[in-house]
Amino acid sequence: MDPAAPHHVRVTCAPGLADYLEQELAELGFDAVDVRPTTVDIRASLHDAMRLNLHLRTAFNVLYLLDAFTCADPEELYARVEALPWEDWIAPDEYLSVVSSVDTPSITDWRFASLKVKDAVVDRVASVQGARPDSGPLRENFVLHLYWVGDRCELYLNTSGRKLSDRNYRKIPHKAPMQEALAAGVLAATGYDGGAPLVNPMCGSGTLAIEAALIATGRPPGLLRSNFGFMHHKAFDDAAWQQMRREAKKIRSKHAPAPIIASDIDEKAVLAARKNAETAGVHHYIDFHVCDFADTPLPDDPGIVLFNPEYGERLGKIAELEETYARMGDFLKQRCAGWTGYIFTGNLQLAKKVGLRASRRMEFHNARIECRLLKYELYAGTRRKPEADGA
Ligand SMILES: C[S@@+](CC[C@H](N)C(=O)[O-])C[C@H]1O[C@@H](n2cnc3c(N)ncnc32)[C@H](O)[C@@H]1O
Repeated sequence: MDPAAPHHVRVTCAPGLADYLEQELAELGFDAVDVRPTTVDIRASLHDAMRLNLHLRTAFNVLYLLDAFTCADPEELYARVEALPWEDWIAPDEYLSVVSSVDTPSITDWRFASLKVKDAVVDRVASVQGARPDSGPLRENFVLHLYWVGDRCELYLNTSGRKLSDRNYRKIPHKAPMQEALAAGVLAATGYDGGAPLVNPMCGSGTLAIEAALIATGRPPGLLRSNFGFMHHKAFDDAAWQQMRREAKKIRSKHAPAPIIASDIDEKAVLAARKNAETAGVHHYIDFHVCDFADTPLPDDPGIVLFNPEYGERLGKIAELEETYARMGDFLKQRCAGWTGYIFTGNLQLAKKVGLRASRRMEFHNARIECRLLKYELYAGTRRKPEADGA
């Protein structure tokens, strides 16, 4: 394996984020070869994979293809995997974990496919080196992904290990936190670049505000993590990685970030958000307030107001929430003329209570819930229409 040679790489993401991921990849210099709802395929080297892990905001995992082959049954899978030179890739004192996605008639339980791959790898390393790597479910070290559809198998090294959306700053999650990669995707959908103020009432544990501050200051999110899957491959070039980190630390956005305001009615939420922002190293860029959303202070220059209210799936009661959504509409109309408003919600019936006509509705998924990011252009004369929109 030549770490500098371009290879097939699959970058995965949450449903709804592939377009934003494709855009991010293009900005980093990688053209998409294939785009699907949760994957973008590119050509990249193992060395490039380190850079992708450092910079990508909307991705889950960066998967590097190790081998692709046809395969009829678990015995053939074992033989094909065992034939690969694992002793060149994984040390006997490493820890291996295998994840499989299987849709093939000869197997009903994906865990059996994972077991076959794991056995093949550790047997091969043991036969060549006399000791076998440990294995288990933790995705902290050497992680493999098997895709087996029909008679076609693709085996990838997961160069990320743990999902990249797990940035390592959210030590205190609070209630119903938004996944970090989703927050980055939502901000990308608003066109946020730090040039104009961002106000995030109902900030909860602060994910949107923290991701905004990372974007506004140009900080690559991977700088917050000290462990990635690629570090557990024998070809890992620590000197090149440290150099990449040093270069990434020098990146700063061209403009000083415009104000970022985050507020929540729950004091504990704001405490958690502040702590999380400190962990991410961006607390200096965010103004926190404990208040009802309607009392959130707005900077003089207009920008973006972004709400992620409860939507009745996990928190909150519907009748109370109807009133909250109606009040959000009043707030946007009465206090935010000249701003662009956004509401991210998984409940379109509640969204109708906002009473403003959305100019765009962008589809996302939060875990299994289909969500919309609703955009409201708030001109000085924006008219409130009862039950105007949301569908
Ligand atoms: C879905 S959570 C936001 C999650 C957040 N995006 C995150 O990543 O952690 C909604 C938040 O709205 C807050 N909230 C509910 N009613 C509010 C109100 N009237 N004014 C301000 N905040 C409110 C709750 O305390 C909760 O933290």
